[in-house]
Amino acid sequence: MDRFLIEGGRPLEGSVRIGGAKNAALPAMAAALLTCERVELDNIPQVRDIITMGRLLAHMGAVVETPELPPTTMIIRAEKINGAEAPYELVRTMRASILTLGPLIGRTGSARVSLPGGCAIGARPVDLHLKALEQMGAEISTSHGYVEARVPGSGRLRGGHVIFDKITVTGTENVLMAAALAEGETKIENAAREPEITDLADLLIKMGAEIEGAGTPTIRVRGKQKLHATQHTVIPDRIEAGTFLVAGAITNGALELTGCAPEHLASVIAKLRETGVEIHETAPGTLAVRGAKTLAAADVRTEEYPGFATDMQAQFMALATQAEGTSVITETIFENRFLHASEMIRMGANISIEGRRAIVHGPSTLSGTSVIASDLRASASLVLAALVARGETIVDRVYHIDRGYERIEEKLSSIGARIRRVH
Ligand code: EPZ
Repeated sequence: MDRFLIEGGRPLEGSVRIGGAKNAALPAMAAALLTCERVELDNIPQVRDIITMGRLLAHMGAVVETPELPPTTMIIRAEKINGAEAPYELVRTMRASILTLGPLIGRTGSARVSLPGGCAIGARPVDLHLKALEQMGAEISTSHGYVEARVPGSGRLRGGHVIFDKITVTGTENVLMAAALAEGETKIENAAREPEITDLADLLIKMGAEIEGAGTPTIRVRGKQKLHATQHTVIPDRIEAGTFLVAGAITNGALELTGCAPEHLASVIAKLRETGVEIHETAPGTLAVRGAKTLAAADVRTEEYPGFATDMQAQFMALATQAEGTSVITETIFENRFLHASEMIRMGANISIEGRRAIVHGPSTLSGTSVIASDLRASASLVLAALVARGETIVDRVYHIDRGYERIEEKLSSIGARIRRVH
């Protein structure tokens, strides 16, 4: 298993290019199942989850090509769908496989998708996805660890009125995709408003779908008989950008991030500024971040977009260990997303967990040791902590980080970090 060896204590300086958003690219790839024509996706990040989704689509009969090197363009042709099935072997490595459920039912009238299990950060059920698809006419059963769905009669879903009990990102995406080929209009209420939802809607509209209201809590979709070929450029990864903003801040460095979408980072930028970090948009899509000698503590509460993203909570905690005073970090989205805290404590951080709140007293001098990454964003936060720790930190199980950050050790090395991957 790969590990990172990180020697802390160097301010990071220079420029980093932010890649395409993993969490926008995954639904975009799944959406290609909705048409038999060619879908070209650009700004695809080179991360493990994308490779897994490519394998999954190929397993279903789609032809998936990455014609250039590095492979930031992907061409998908799902002319025929041979097997509308997402097997456990692939789903168990990537929960986002559930994103194939909506398009498969929409296009073929049936699907068999392995139930994703719980994961380190929480139980993460998919009940809301299933309930919504049932409201659109799918008959769904779960047995032997699989979701089996079929649409009786014509095989075509019908528009429905979906009210989500709780805001769900991939749930909203599944319904959007299914509704694009359903008969009649679907109204989705309490929809997620993440930029990844708007990006998916933009892609579907280019494919011929009629969608209004994406980015708001109420989305209306008028279903079409058929969708067609298109090209789409995936939005920049706001979580990768946020992680590098923290990297600049925590090392008291000066970084320039290019290729980002500052408008998607408003709550993260506001929170970092509260700690004393300077952030400016120096050109369209370019952010400059400069650390501060002394950082101030700040409280954070994770929320659905446009609130502070749960996917940035762990990285913010790393920063809070270096801030003067007490920061209270409240996680409201996932029930068990503080696994990084115990590893940071082993590095010398002063953190106590009370239910959904982490109380961080800073600043603490961190010292390098061996730590274990438990999930994608937790791994990123441990890398950030290692960048300010005294001595060498070994971050184990970096396969988690490879799922969602492209060549992070290369990007960090290029701005002055001492980081090495060992096999
Ligand atoms: C998406 O996960 C992201 N994944 C996650 O990113 C992100 O943390 C999360 O949204 C929240 O922003 C992708 O986009 C591929 P949810 P998703 O459904 O859609 C509960 C990362 O690090 N819920 O919005 O699975 C659920 O348990 C990852 O890149 C139900 O109860 O999250 C959670 O508490 C990790 N029933 C809450 O809703 C359901 O049917 C929000 O989850 C669905 C969700």
